Amino acid sequence: MNNPASGNAALAARDLRHVWHPCTQMHDHESVPMLPIVRGEGAWLVDADGRRYLDGISSWWTNLFGHANPRLAAALADQAQRLEHVIFAGFTHPPAIELAEALVRITPPGLDKVFFADNGSAAIEVALKMSFHYWLNRGHGEKTRFIALTGSYHGETLGALSVSDVALYRKTYAPLLLTPFLAPSPDAYEGEPGESPEQTAKRRLGELRALLERHAHETCAVIVEPLVQCAGGMRMYHPSYLAGLRALCDEFAVHFIADEIAVGFGRTGTLFACEQAAVSPDFMCLSKGLTAGFMPLSVVLTTDDVYAAFYAEYRTGKAFLHSHSYTGNPLACRVALETLAIFRDEPVLERNRGLAARLARRLAPLRDHPHVADVRQCGMIAAVELVADKAMRRPYPATERRGLRVYLHGLQHGALLRPLGNVVYFMPPYVVTEQDIDLLVDTAIAGIERAVTD
Ligand SMILES: Cc1ncc(COP(=O)(O)O)c(C=O)c1O
Repeated sequence: MNNPASGNAALAARDLRHVWHPCTQMHDHESVPMLPIVRGEGAWLVDADGRRYLDGISSWWTNLFGHANPRLAAALADQAQRLEHVIFAGFTHPPAIELAEALVRITPPGLDKVFFADNGSAAIEVALKMSFHYWLNRGHGEKTRFIALTGSYHGETLGALSVSDVALYRKTYAPLLLTPFLAPSPDAYEGEPGESPEQTAKRRLGELRALLERHAHETCAVIVEPLVQCAGGMRMYHPSYLAGLRALCDEFAVHFIADEIAVGFGRTGTLFACEQAAVSPDFMCLSKGLTAGFMPLSVVLTTDDVYAAFYAEYRTGKAFLHSHSYTGNPLACRVALETLAIFRDEPVLERNRGLAARLARRLAPLRDHPHVADVRQCGMIAAVELVADKAMRRPYPATERRGLRVYLHGLQHGALLRPLGNVVYFMPPYVVTEQDIDLLVDTAIAGIERAVTD
């Protein structure tokens, strides 16, 4: 028997008295359960009543190797007994040094300098400020603008939100934000009828070129989520867009910022998404999978050329100024190192290929569903686009909250699925089994059936 004082109901009631949760209309919790999780085991979460949920979204796309992973937990415990934190200005420590060395080794060529921060949005702030400041230090103070893609999401601090284009997050705060130039996303779902993803990418590159022709002189950088625009609905595009983007950035002297916060560390099938186009960006932002979901940490990798623009006598005032108290936290760096060691020691990407194939096979029948307009996949990310009208690709109105019905169905059946509006997606930890994948897909299919039935 569960102790009612420490069960779901008691903990949820205490939570709702004082805690304000992210990405939530708190009023929803008058009908939607608040779930107290007390334990994690591999891909599974366990609530205070002992019910289990398969984490189909890797707890906001962070978890790679399972909850409470013993190897990561041991590294964390060991580091906690050596050094938990130290100011990162004027001081350094072995986990940060080793992590920087390892990241430079495994990321695309040319990314030789590592700046630490502590969450994804902070990494975006760093990249935007660094790009602007680079051009300023090089005598181009007229470059103050950024180009972002329609449908993009880069975080919710004011700078990161400025270069994001998901109305749900941006609209309310728009009066506070910088205004980017928006280039049309190469999103294959929005391609012209009969157009291949590669043709869509090519057409969109033409539109980006036109934007750069008008605005490159005042533009610092183009920022993109390589291959998959995640929060924008798991919209996917052809890698040739990234190769074309690299060439355009070189031609027009603007930086290329690759936000691999969500897609890095194997999500798209390669360790980094940029590898699929064989490109090196000028800035690469990493977080989430960097610590396999254990600790908040982020990094911005950049080039020697960018670094050199800041490297000068103190009196020149060219230093990059951006600091967070927990910059380069040793606990987080140590866990990140252990995460990379798992990639080194185990055939992670190879195993994922088998899991991704299983996911694809199990999702395929949904293509014929009368309310499914698209089933798409890129490595370990798969998404199902629900629509009111398949022929016209007319979405369900957001107010109908069809995705919420899938979410609630999932919880009742032991699966954590958290659709983005009308998009039901799968981004499981890499430790799921084929049976886990079957459970996720079967639960999603039944949930979709319930969600589209009025
Ligand atoms: C592509 C991308 N960039 C940036 C962020 C922001 O990261 P954080 O939530 O750690 O601030 C996210 C978060 O989902 C993301 O998906």
